Parts: sequence; C-alpha cells; structure tokens
Amino acid sequence: MKKLLDLISEEIKDAFEAAGYERELGKVTLSNRPDLCEYQCNGAMAAAKKYKKAPIMIANDVAAKLSGSKIYEKAEAVAPGFLNLTLKGDFVGNFIKGMRAEEKYGFEETKNPLEIIIDYGGANIAKPLHVGHLRTAIIGESIKRIARYAGHHVIGDVHLGDWGQPMGLVINELRQRKPELVYFDENYTGEYPTEPPFTIAELEEIYPYASKRSKEDEEYKADAMACTYKLQSGVRGYRALWQHIFNVSVTDLKKNYGNLDVEFDLWNGESTVHDLIPDMVDYMKKGGYAYISEGALVVDVKEDTDTKEVPPCMILKSDGAALYNTTDLATIMMRMEQNKPDRIIYLTDKRQELYFEQVFRCARKTKLVKEETRLQFLGCGTMNGADGKPFKTRDGGVMRLENLIKEVNAEMLEKIKQNRDVSNDEAVQTAQVVGLAALKYGDLSNQASKDYIFDIDRFTSFEGDTGPYILYTIVRIKSILKKYAEKGGDVEAVKNNINAPANESEKQLMLALAKYNSSIEAAYDETAPHKVCAYIYELANAFNHFYHETKILDEGDEQRKAGWIALLALTRDVLETAISLLGFSAPDRM
Ligand code: ARG
Repeated sequence: MKKLLDLISEEIKDAFEAAGYERELGKVTLSNRPDLCEYQCNGAMAAAKKYKKAPIMIANDVAAKLSGSKIYEKAEAVAPGFLNLTLKGDFVGNFIKGMRAEEKYGFEETKNPLEIIIDYGGANIAKPLHVGHLRTAIIGESIKRIARYAGHHVIGDVHLGDWGQPMGLVINELRQRKPELVYFDENYTGEYPTEPPFTIAELEEIYPYASKRSKEDEEYKADAMACTYKLQSGVRGYRALWQHIFNVSVTDLKKNYGNLDVEFDLWNGESTVHDLIPDMVDYMKKGGYAYISEGALVVDVKEDTDTKEVPPCMILKSDGAALYNTTDLATIMMRMEQNKPDRIIYLTDKRQELYFEQVFRCARKTKLVKEETRLQFLGCGTMNGADGKPFKTRDGGVMRLENLIKEVNAEMLEKIKQNRDVSNDEAVQTAQVVGLAALKYGDLSNQASKDYIFDIDRFTSFEGDTGPYILYTIVRIKSILKKYAEKGGDVEAVKNNINAPANESEKQLMLALAKYNSSIEAAYDETAPHKVCAYIYELANAFNHFYHETKILDEGDEQRKAGWIALLALTRDVLETAISLLGFSAPDRM
C-alpha cells in the first residue's frame, strides 16, 4: 500500500504539471502550522527562481487546478507562496479502511529478502550480565524483529566472550582452590564427570576475585595466562572444565535474557571459531595481506583519507596467541561460508567503534567478505545515572541486570497498587509485564547512539513518553472493546466498518494511524527502533485525545458507534504489533 504522503503528493504533482510546471515540485510534507492546515507543499517557493515568477502566482496556478480535488478539502495558496492543504474526511476514512484490509496494515514486505546476521548481546562467560549489556540486547532484539517483519531472513547471534583471558583466570583460580579436581590431573585418561564442580554463584564470585588479584599479583597473572594458553591449545582437562563453565554460564544467561524477552538463534562465541584460525592466518599470509611487524602478524588497514590514526589490525601476537579481532575475523569467514549474509549488523558499546572499523577494513581488504556485503556497526550510547555518569548501584558498584529488573518491577508494583485495587498476585504479574515495557521503552525511545539517563520514576510513569503510558492506552482500548461486547456488540463483525471521521479528533487519530507504513519502513531502513517509539507515542496521544472528546459507548447512532469500535480495534492491533517489534507486550488490565 502506498504511503499516505506519496499518495497525496501525486495529486499535487499532477496539478503542478497541469499548470505547466515541473511535476517533481509537488512534494507534500507535514504541516509546520497544524493550526492552519494538515499538510503543505513548498514547491512554488522552489519554482520561483526557475520560472522567474513570484511564488504566490505559481501557488495560485496550482491551487486553481486543485479545485475539483477528490482528496483535498482545502488547497489554499498563501503568501509568500505556500500551499496549505487539508484532506477530505472520506479520503482519510478510506485510507484507514485500506489499512485494515491489509495483513500488515499497509506496510509492505521487501521483494528482495536479505540474509542478515545480527551480532548483539555480547555477553561474557563466567560474568553476570550487568547494565552495560542492556542496550545492545534490547536494541538488537528490536532491530531483529523489525527486519524479520520487513520480510528479511534474520539470524541473531549472541557472540559470547568465551575464549579469552577471563577463562584462564577462572580455571587458574579453580586450580588453586581445588587442586585435587581430576581436570588438573594431566595423566588422567578417563571420562570427566558430567556434573560441574561449581555452581553459578561460585563462578560469579571467582571471576571478579581472580580478575582483581591478577592486577595486583604478577605471578598469579602469569599462571592464569598459562591456563588460557593450555585451554586454547587443547589440554583435555582444561577443555572439559571450560565446557562446564560454558554450560553453567549459558544456562544462567538464557534465563536472564529470557526475562528480558531477548532470544538468540545462535549461541556461538569466540570459541566457536578457534579451530578456523590457522586456515584463516594461512590465507591472509598467502594472499600477501598479513606481514610480521615486531614479531606480531598484522594487516595494514589505514587509508589515505583517514584524518585520525587507524592502527594495523593485529592477527596474532608475537607469542602466536589469537586476539579478540582474530576471533571476529574468523567469525566473519565462518558466517560467509555458512550463512552467506548480505549484511551483518554488530551492536556493542560505542567505545568499540574504532575496533570495528579496523575489523571491517581488514575483512574487506583480505576479501573475507564480498564487495557488496554490508558490514554495519551500531555503537550504543551509555545508560547513565541521575548524575550523568554511567549507571551504578547505590554503593558505586556495577549494577547487575537482574537487580535492575527487580528494581524496576518493584517500583512498577507500587504504582500499580496505587492506581487500582487489585489482588497481590495479579499486581505482581502485571508489574512484570509493565516493568519490562518501562525498561525497554525507556531505552528504545532514545536514539541508539545517544547516552541517556535512567530515571526510574519517569520510566515507570503512566504519563508521558513511557512504556507504561503506551500499555495503559492499549489497556484502555481493550476495556472499551470489552464493554461493547458485554453490551451485545460484536467487535469482530464490525471491525471493517471504518467510516469517514465524524469529528476533528477522530480525523487526527486516523492521520496518526496512517503513518504506520512509513514509520516502520524508516525504522528498518535507518536501523532505528526509536522511530517505532515516536510513532506509537504520537498514536497513543491522538487516541487519548479522541477518547476524551468522544462518548464512544453512549453514541446513539449505531453505525457511527460501530465505526468507532472498528477504529479502536485497528488502533489496538497496530499498537500491539508495534510493541511486539520493540520486544514487549501489553497485559489485558493494569
Ligand atoms: N563480548 C564483547 C564485550 O563484552 C562483545 C562482543 C561483541 N561482538 C563481537 N562480534 N565482537 O565487549
């Protein structure tokens, strides 16, 4: 289905042409003065120079051609040369009726589905998820859902940090604490136990302890590095122990991501590509891309146009060890073989921007990807506390994601109880659903690359640009539809009966709804879920305005009432679809 702005531009373009001017001048935009008109066209201003005529004369010529328009109620030329445009109610009603008739409300799936991999989440094994992981998880999940909705084939990969120095730290510390474990007996040839020799709680205590100690104790650090080396070179007991660390961690991560409604198709990580590295290194050497510099193997990636220093991409350290980017490059190679992606989108903290620039350049230069493969980095801004610094716990520590969710849910529970008399069980359940929306919307409504302040009071508020406000609006609609049904109405039966708008606020609601396809398209094209947020916030406002102005259920004219019910049902469906693209859902009551 055509986008409303394109559709209504057509007629203005026709009018420009009919009046003897260039067609493309007839582009319509939203009005800058909603008090005067709904849309405007500034084409006459642009034409003035070309046709050496006063803009108002051109605008008058065009307006004259629009006198019998089926679309425009009003098309007025105003000084100095704008066209002020207002649509006819039945045209708008028909457009909305058309939206209702389409599966995706007028949004069209792509005709050329791409193979897309989204690399997001980026959790690290043996470390709990903390607030720093929140944004990439939430935004990545939404981008994945939007791309799928647009008809692309999308794979989400968590790309775990599971192979580097932290692994050595954990294994080394385990060896110090429990040297008797069979994993450390190098003469052992039997099978290893299937039960892990630690719990997730122990694991989470071990890593920070070991990490801290390695910074203070050189010998300890050297031991840990030796452990990393042994693990990576395939010592059996170390690999078996690593597998336990991996399993225990992943079970816990799945639970935590699950609580966020974030789901990955692949649980690959740095370790997945370990065995591919030697071949890749060979290939890079043979191709003449990689060379030895101060003992390390590097690929130059600087370009003539660089204004800042872009260091070479190091493939192997002088001791032969692989690095973070080695695993990223090998992962690109593996993905190109297994999935042949047209596009890979990476989400991390924006501080990794230069790093990804190096990796992308290296992948292109070494032809690991095809020329047309799009590699895209989306750097996320930081979630800050009220002081404008990265969000911390009250005692200044890094906040675990689990605890952040708990805090939001607790605050939400308070507000829900204040709002309404409700059983404790129901309130707790509702608080979880609404709390997730508060957290996710609070994050997603900000542009990904921008920092924002986590303000629990604002995020959980039922008013303003918040998740709970959107859900509240949906719940309000659901409750009206329920009452209509209780009084004998049949929502399903009337849902296509959309009429021309009966009043101004209804028309405004329709015009807000009508932006659905263009908003979702922009969100996909620009990899920008915040555009979905902006759309639903405007729509929720337009709905609430209509609701306050209109006595829907008391309306005596049954046909008019049915039309309103149909409009409500469509608004609900559109809002619920949009929030599912953002990665949360609405309760039936709240
Ligand atoms: N584990 C990494 C970190 O904590 C993020 C991984 C991002 N993805 C990637 N392909 N490098 O910083």
